[in-house]
Amino acid sequence: MDHAQLRERLVEKLTANGSLRTRAWRSAAETVPRHEFLHGGFFRHLQGPASDAWTPVLDSDADWLEACYQDESLVTQIAGTILPTDVRGQIMRAPTSSSTMPSLVLRMLEDLHVEPESNVLEIGTGSGYSTALLCARLGDERVTSIEYDDTLASRARTALARQSMFPAIVTANGLDGHPESAPYDRVIATCGIRTVPTAWIEQTRPGGLILATISGWLNSSELARLTVHGDGTASGPLLGGQVSFMLARPHTPPALGLLPDLNEGTERETLTGGEILADWTTRFVVQLAAPHAQRLTIERDGHTEDVLIDIASGSWATVHKNDGRWIVRQSGPEALWDTVEEQLGRWHAAGTPPLEKFTVTVTPDGQTIHCIG
Ligand SMILES: C[S@@+](CC[C@H](N)C(=O)[O-])C[C@H]1O[C@@H](n2cnc3c(N)ncnc32)[C@H](O)[C@@H]1O
Repeated sequence: MDHAQLRERLVEKLTANGSLRTRAWRSAAETVPRHEFLHGGFFRHLQGPASDAWTPVLDSDADWLEACYQDESLVTQIAGTILPTDVRGQIMRAPTSSSTMPSLVLRMLEDLHVEPESNVLEIGTGSGYSTALLCARLGDERVTSIEYDDTLASRARTALARQSMFPAIVTANGLDGHPESAPYDRVIATCGIRTVPTAWIEQTRPGGLILATISGWLNSSELARLTVHGDGTASGPLLGGQVSFMLARPHTPPALGLLPDLNEGTERETLTGGEILADWTTRFVVQLAAPHAQRLTIERDGHTEDVLIDIASGSWATVHKNDGRWIVRQSGPEALWDTVEEQLGRWHAAGTPPLEKFTVTVTPDGQTIHCIG
């Protein structure tokens, strides 16, 4: 199959699975050739004991073109600087940029509810594929896209220019927005954020929409769509679907550094163990209660311990099973596990509502996420 046939097949698939819902976005998806944004190649994940091993697939490889039209995220940068052409063999570091899976890109563009005249700010240009879809739909003069990484921004700019698209591609920290092209009618982020930056609210017209994935250091996240109000606040629901993105670079967690002495602290029995954190929604709820906590699992003294640790405050909690009973030991200014238990208690009392029942509110005092019943 050639790229036009592969694209047609992908568009059919995205229409059938409900990602593409409107004629206008279908036509944009039919127009934009994704492979043109992946000429530098991508990294394929290698299954095996080292779960984060990646190997390059270059545009000269036989399976490259077909892979560009699979409904999959394709990693294009690793560890902040490494591109597919830099690697022979394997690399074992974390991805820092990708071309997001087309079904998610198009679902988000549909959820953005653009109007033909919308002025849009995108944060996280990456390969430029989603930027190109916005340009195809709205015209490049209505699109501004911010990318943190200069190399990625210039590659995206080149790929867009090959399609005769010349949106404003800005290299900057997208969390600051881009006042020069404001006010915006829509803001869309294709990287995760912990809190919605006030700059985005300030730079959006009242009635405008912000679509972003609210994420955190316990690796649970959800897409939110906020409406900006005339008083400088914004609010709106989580949309559901367990949407996940790599965190915006300034929102990534701090290095753990030296671990505290986990033998210290106060011990008590608790009703639940760390295995509850395997569940996406539970983890999101816990993340709301302990937004600065990071999680690690350690083996010691013949048992597994789930550790929550807040580097900034020095608070930590570790939970393990002993003779069939769950034991928590915690230390520091905040009793982290107490906070987690209280939050989970409230969520259970409300009947464990799904994340679609939560709403996000941002005011000058900060961000709150509440269950709306
Ligand atoms: C999942 S990729 C974006 C996918 C892209 N929209 C596409 O279609 O290819 C996330 C991107 O966000 C960028 N990024 C991370 N933090 C950022 C920030 N603070 N400001 C702007 N871009 C950021 C990363 O460098 C990465 O390229």
